[in-house]
Amino acid sequence: MMNFEGTRLTPKMYDLTDALHLQGDVFQHATVAGQHLLDRLQSLTDWANNRLSHEVDANCKATHGRIQPRASAHDRAGRQISGVNFASQDYLSLSSHPQIVAAAQHAAATRGVHSAGSSALMGLTDLTLELEREMAAWLGYNDATVFPTGWGAGYGVIKALVRPTDHVVIDMLAHACLMEGARAATPNVHAFAHLSARGLESRLARVRRDHPDDGIMVVTESLFSMDSDTPDLRHAVRVCQEHGATLVVDCAHDLGCMGADGLGHLAAQGVLGEVDIVMGSFSKTFASNGGFVASSHPALKLALRFLCGPQTYTNAMSPIQAAVVLKALEIVRSDEGRDRRVRLMDNINYLRSQLADCGFVTLGAPSPIVPTMLGDSALSRLVCGETLRAGALVNLVEYPAVSRNTSRLRLQVMADHSEADIDEFCTILTAAGATAIDSLRAAQEANAEAMT
Ligand SMILES: Cc1ncc(COP(=O)(O)O)c(C=O)c1O
Repeated sequence: MMNFEGTRLTPKMYDLTDALHLQGDVFQHATVAGQHLLDRLQSLTDWANNRLSHEVDANCKATHGRIQPRASAHDRAGRQISGVNFASQDYLSLSSHPQIVAAAQHAAATRGVHSAGSSALMGLTDLTLELEREMAAWLGYNDATVFPTGWGAGYGVIKALVRPTDHVVIDMLAHACLMEGARAATPNVHAFAHLSARGLESRLARVRRDHPDDGIMVVTESLFSMDSDTPDLRHAVRVCQEHGATLVVDCAHDLGCMGADGLGHLAAQGVLGEVDIVMGSFSKTFASNGGFVASSHPALKLALRFLCGPQTYTNAMSPIQAAVVLKALEIVRSDEGRDRRVRLMDNINYLRSQLADCGFVTLGAPSPIVPTMLGDSALSRLVCGETLRAGALVNLVEYPAVSRNTSRLRLQVMADHSEADIDEFCTILTAAGATAIDSLRAAQEANAEAMT
């Protein structure tokens, strides 16, 4: 049995002088100094290509064919990887659902393929407006506004509401769209420790005390995708009400796929309708690009249409995407959706228990994301490379997306995975782990010998 916690090798323990592909990170290469904006990026490209040539680069894979539990892709070097797929976000396995494909075909046949305009002008379609009404009704808010991407919804709602003299109090691990929106809106961004109710409350109280007349937005998520964990949303609602702050919760990863009715942690914690602004993405469960912002405040909708870059100054979601999400939402709300969520959760629990039996540590609570700890960069890149070579599709998350030496596979489960897929994957991963540890041990021993 393997235990990555127990056997973790740190870079100090082996000689990486000749192994540049196992060292360094994106951040280090992206911050190389220099006056020439393009030339200074060469370092990043050289580093990434070196990793690719050593087959320890899992980034930028392209799929062929449908997104399913078994899939085919190739990497940047054109190498084929075919096999069990834990690298796609399609939690309820809706991306090739026949009814959804038919809805997309019907929309294309009746409306063409393009929105042909911003939603502030004439890019809205009857389908987009129907989707906005359906989302609002399902969530129990007065209104919803649909965006062409989830990223735009998160960034845009913060940037549109928060002014430079206002304040944003935000979980330090909030998604890049939220963090970048906050930083673009105001210099007054106060990050609190991940999930810390005390951290949120004390920062919020201090900001309100020091700035009694300014606006404050509090931003968090209902399911964090790197750690698969959830804050105390009820507490966040309470302290926001006490201090006159507006609460925004991003439910990209749990809406539609978790909870009996698919309403995720917001419903489980009884805060739907109490969170001021709910935003999310359609790209994890609803089989399409796109996102939304929902609220009951009567002034938000037109403000977003007119004052929000990723809504106002970009073309609206296409009629095909709106039709896809509408049909996906219908399925999510149906008995079929309920069945799919049950199958998804069974798979999640089975994968987590099988990984534990193989000695892997998974983070957080059961959700469609199963973060599987590997540890330092060198080991994690070798394990990931071996896993891909053996025919399992995975994504590796490294610093700066997570903190140093906490690299992890971010496994994403689908309703259509079978126990056989999960068993096969665990066998591949276990063998990949053993091979990676052996090769690092060999390097370590060679290093020790050279020093004597
Ligand atoms: C928490 C969170 N919010 C927003 C987004 C952006 O959504 P999309 O990829 O649909 O633009 C993502 C997706 O990566 C996410 O994980």
